[in-house]
Amino acid sequence: MSDTVKYLLDEAHMPKFWYNVVPDLPAPPPPVLHPGTLQPVGPTDFEPLFPMALIQQEVSTERHIEIPEPVRDIYRQWRPTPLFRARRLEKALETPARIYYKYEGVSPAGSHKPNTAVAQAFYNREAGVRKIATETGAGQWGSSLAFAGALFGLEVLVFMVRVSYNQKPYRRAFMETFGARCVPSPSPETNFGRAVLARTPDSNGSLGIAISEAVEVAATHDDTKYALGSVLNHVLLHQTIIGQEARLQLEMADDYPDVVLGCTGGGSNFAGIAFPFIGERLRGGRETRILAVEPAACPSLTRGKYAYDFGDTGHMTPLTKMHTLGSTFMPPGFHAGGLRYHGMAPLVSHLRELGLIEARAPMQTACFEAGVQFARAEGIVPAPEANHAVRGAIDEAVRCREEGVSKAILFNLCGHGHFDMQAYTDYFAGKLTDQSYDEQELAMALAGLPSVPPES
Ligand SMILES: Cc1ncc(COP(=O)(O)O)c(C=O)c1O
Repeated sequence: MSDTVKYLLDEAHMPKFWYNVVPDLPAPPPPVLHPGTLQPVGPTDFEPLFPMALIQQEVSTERHIEIPEPVRDIYRQWRPTPLFRARRLEKALETPARIYYKYEGVSPAGSHKPNTAVAQAFYNREAGVRKIATETGAGQWGSSLAFAGALFGLEVLVFMVRVSYNQKPYRRAFMETFGARCVPSPSPETNFGRAVLARTPDSNGSLGIAISEAVEVAATHDDTKYALGSVLNHVLLHQTIIGQEARLQLEMADDYPDVVLGCTGGGSNFAGIAFPFIGERLRGGRETRILAVEPAACPSLTRGKYAYDFGDTGHMTPLTKMHTLGSTFMPPGFHAGGLRYHGMAPLVSHLRELGLIEARAPMQTACFEAGVQFARAEGIVPAPEANHAVRGAIDEAVRCREEGVSKAILFNLCGHGHFDMQAYTDYFAGKLTDQSYDEQELAMALAGLPSVPPES
């Protein structure tokens, strides 16, 4: 029996296409609506914010979309990423399960986010854009776009959720190293940021607020476009290189996953690892359980409402049907900044409605406990976001032990936690509290959902 630990794919075998799950779905996703007319929006409605190539990907029904050569060329700086067999963790857990993890932390920013940052920067550059505004929660996305912007000569402005900005000062320095400007959000630089600060001067910020600020800058400056690090169809599309590589690497291991897991903030790393396997199953391939793991403190998939809502707090975006906690919901300042988003990707939400994926929502200390156990066995300190996937994978492996079955478990280790050591320090000091979401605040946020007739 082989005892291989790392399954390494040759650069020459890196996938040349992104995979679009939409044509394989049994029902198309609901349309995106204009908030004023409640009619479906068309590609031109997005033009102030995104270059047309990305808008076309957003609405594409092609199964495969070619990855442009210059993007593939840059991907080769860190891709294909390794697939590990977690043999030491398996031993520590005394589980008969075969645990595999796809490690996206080897990228320049330390997570999966550059997979879409490089693609988005490329298409913006092709369209003659000079400047991009964006938001960041954990700092991973801002770092990724800063890196990609430097490669394509684009100016990058990042609104970083204030609680993360304070928790992770080195993320800002990282972005500045690539020439980007990073400001804490809410900021005095936009109308929306000023309005939030006037109401709540000590606001922690949220992804919904930071998105509004970045969208406002793009919508009011002709030379500036907006980029989003998750949620949108084209972002999820760009991440599917992860699952496609994992599929090839599992072939090298002569194995196939019984369970695939990822953590979910906006849904992109989860989609990246899961969609290629969901597609195979929908085309008549093997049954694989697909499991999304989200924080108990911001549980959009498990406790949110499936409804039309705004993607941002300032209500500047169109309406998308998704699992939402309400666009004004302010998640507590827990230590997984990338998972503090009120909504879930419309495509991931649609898959949940179709019964194609499961979801669960563990508490943050249980996730850190899993992350520490993983680090002590495998030698990699996961990002706090990734700890949710680690928790899910360990729980599955323990269940295998209890039931005496050997299953193959694949999860996305979507980033390392090297900039997140304050969170680990707080965890070791017993300072992390387990926060469930606030029922009353949520009820208020959900009461503010836009009113959309059911047939829309
Ligand atoms: C390491 C890491 N994982 C996960 C996420 C959540 O995003 P998504 O659900 O789009 O993968 C983030 C977002 O910032 C992140 O930085």
